[in-house]
Formats: sequence, structure tokens, C-alpha cells
Amino acid sequence: MDIRSKDKSYVASTYARFDVAFVKGEGSLLYDEHGEEYIDLGTGIAVSAFGVSDPIWANAVAEQARSLSHVSNLYYSQPQDDLAELLCTRTGMKKVFFGNSGAEANECAIKVARKYASDRYEGKRQTVITLKNSFHGRTVTTLAATGQDVFHTHFTPFTEGFAYAEPNNFEDFIRLQKQTNAIAVLMELVQGESGVHTLDKSYVQAVAAYCAENDMLLMIDEVQTGNGRTGTLYAYEQFGIQPDVVTTAKGLGGGLPIGACLMGERVADVLGIGSHGSTFGGNPICAAGAYNIISRINGEVLEGVKQREAYIRMRLMGEDGVLGVDGMGLMLGISCKRPNKEIVQACLKRGVVCLTAKNNVRLLPALNIPMRLLERAMDILVEEINSY
Ligand SMILES: Cc1ncc(COP(=O)(O)O)c(C=O)c1O
Repeated sequence: MDIRSKDKSYVASTYARFDVAFVKGEGSLLYDEHGEEYIDLGTGIAVSAFGVSDPIWANAVAEQARSLSHVSNLYYSQPQDDLAELLCTRTGMKKVFFGNSGAEANECAIKVARKYASDRYEGKRQTVITLKNSFHGRTVTTLAATGQDVFHTHFTPFTEGFAYAEPNNFEDFIRLQKQTNAIAVLMELVQGESGVHTLDKSYVQAVAAYCAENDMLLMIDEVQTGNGRTGTLYAYEQFGIQPDVVTTAKGLGGGLPIGACLMGERVADVLGIGSHGSTFGGNPICAAGAYNIISRINGEVLEGVKQREAYIRMRLMGEDGVLGVDGMGLMLGISCKRPNKEIVQACLKRGVVCLTAKNNVRLLPALNIPMRLLERAMDILVEEINSY
């Protein structure tokens, strides 16, 4: 049975797959079953921070796999503790809970908000405000948190307690807050899945100031924007805010499943013994991989992200088929005259992997994609964008 028939027969049909099967990867190059080479501008949707099967990361993971592959969270675990310490030192956050995905990191944030409300307000302030056009995950609760109606079908009843504010509209945020007496706000600073839209700094700062003055928790979803992707370790650093909660996943593990909910001073001890847990969360192999990734995201890497962003923007500027470019660092959304799906299909045929996000073309290359590969990929992408 070939791979396509096997997939159709045995794997749940939840994905509209492209007609390609990658069998090998080396950094920013992928190879399909016929040995064809592709330049990767998608990194498995912001996962392979230093490229696919990056050898330094793979060594760290293999070494851990050989010495202690798993230990229950009933016991201490050096790789998990080292990673938590590194994340706290690099961010100023105080404690970390580890799960296995972005959705789980957000579930944890929502639990933190509700427990905070329960401890301080006898559960009377229950609502979490999220933004329209947001995306926070696929569990029933994170779907409910997601501010897009298309995700609010089929799986009723959804978890209650979310209200959706218009992004970049502070009056709407205040209106909803007054209506619901919300305990927290959860937002992406660059809305990824809805097309890659960066929030206004002034809006984010106004919301942050309001949260600080009104005992509301400022919770930032950095599942996609985090771990160097936008040119700083976390995107919030560029907005001049200090969140109470930061969630992240994707690039954190560099290719292994790990999610983290970072908690600041106000909420560091809100979750007590027994209030949350996970069998695999912070598993030694995933934690060793994540430690390797985070410890390598230094000033030079972040500078490289900004240089590559500048190069991509320069290549797109003034091109006939380009209507606009949004995003930060190596998380960019391109709005084009030609339908985005056509562009992505045509690029794939010519050996360049890029993504869509709503109506835009989305680029999420490795933080260290070699310039010569980026140049080659941009030649093809620009040609396809202009072929409308
Ligand atoms: C901003 C954001 N939050 C949460 C998630 C969910 O992450 P996961 O698929 O790891 O559960 C995603 C995934 O695309 C995301 O982009």
C-alpha cells in the first residue's frame, strides 16, 4: 500500500494534505520520497527553530534519550528544572508549568486565571477576554477562547466564560470589561492563524496598563510568536509590557512536543499541589531539546532574524503582486493579488515550502536559514506572487 492510500485508510481525515511526503530533512532543506529537494519556509508551522533535524539539537535529544528517557512528574527531573530556570532567568517570569502543546499551555493559563479569581474573588470574576480573529488551540476550552465564529460549531457545549474584543479597539475592550468584570485578557501580539496581523503597540500598552490598575491578569499567547521568532526571545519584549502569564510551545521544543505556561510574580503560586498536572509535560527528552534551543537563541541569532526579515521585506517591496506585508521578524504574512492557495501550491511544485494563513501567504522559516537558500526561495516566491 503506498503512503497516500495508507494515510487515507488509517489516519483520521482531519487534514487536507498537500500531495507530498517528506522523508528527510537537513536544516532548511527537505527531501521528498523521490529525492526532490525543497527549501523550507514553514518549519512545520514555526516548530523547527534551527531547521529540521538540526544536529546540535538532535545530539542533545539523543544523549538524554540514552541516559533517562522518561521520569514521572512525581519525581524531580534535572532537564525540566534546568529548562524552567533558563526560561525564568531569560524572561523575569517566576515559575513554569510544562505541558505538551500550545493548547495545553493556554489551558494552563486559563486555569491560572480562574484559580486566581477563585482565590481572590470567590469565583465572581470568571470571564477571560480574548480578541476577535485570535487562535488559541483545538481543545474544547481553547476553541471557546478562540475569537473566530468558524471554530464555534459542531462541538457544543463549549466552555463558558470568554468574551471577544475587537483587536486594536481599546474602547471595545473597556466596554467588555465593564460588562463582564473579566479577570484576565489572553491575546496574541501577532495574530498568526488569522493571517499574521501585528497588534498596535499603543493598544497593547493601554490594555496592559488597564490590567495593572484593575487587578486583571495580562496573559500573552506566544505559542507562535515565541522563542526568537519575532527577533526577540518573546515578542512582548518589543511591546514594552511585562505580562503576568506567557504561554508558548511550537519552536520551544525544536521538533518535540512541549508547551510551557510561564507565570509572573502575581500568579507564581496560584496553582498549588494537585491543581494541575501532566504525564508527559516537561518530559526529560523534550526538556533537554528545549533547553538546547533556548540556550542557543542569543543576540547573534536574534540579529540574524531581523536581518532576514529586512531582506524578505526588501524583496517584496514594490512588487506588483504584493498588496501588503505584516508581522514581525520571521513571522510574516503577505497579502497578494493572486489567491494565496495558488501561490503556495505553485511554490511547492517548484521546491519551496510556504504556508497560508487565512487569505495570506505566511512565511515562518528557520531562525538561521542560510541566506543563499532564502535568496533562492524568494526568487521563486516573488515570481509566483507576480504570476496572477
Ligand atoms: C497562537 C497559537 N496558540 C495556540 C496554538 C495551538 O498550539 P498547538 O497546536 O500546539 O496546540 C497555536 C497553533 O497554531 C497558535 O498559533
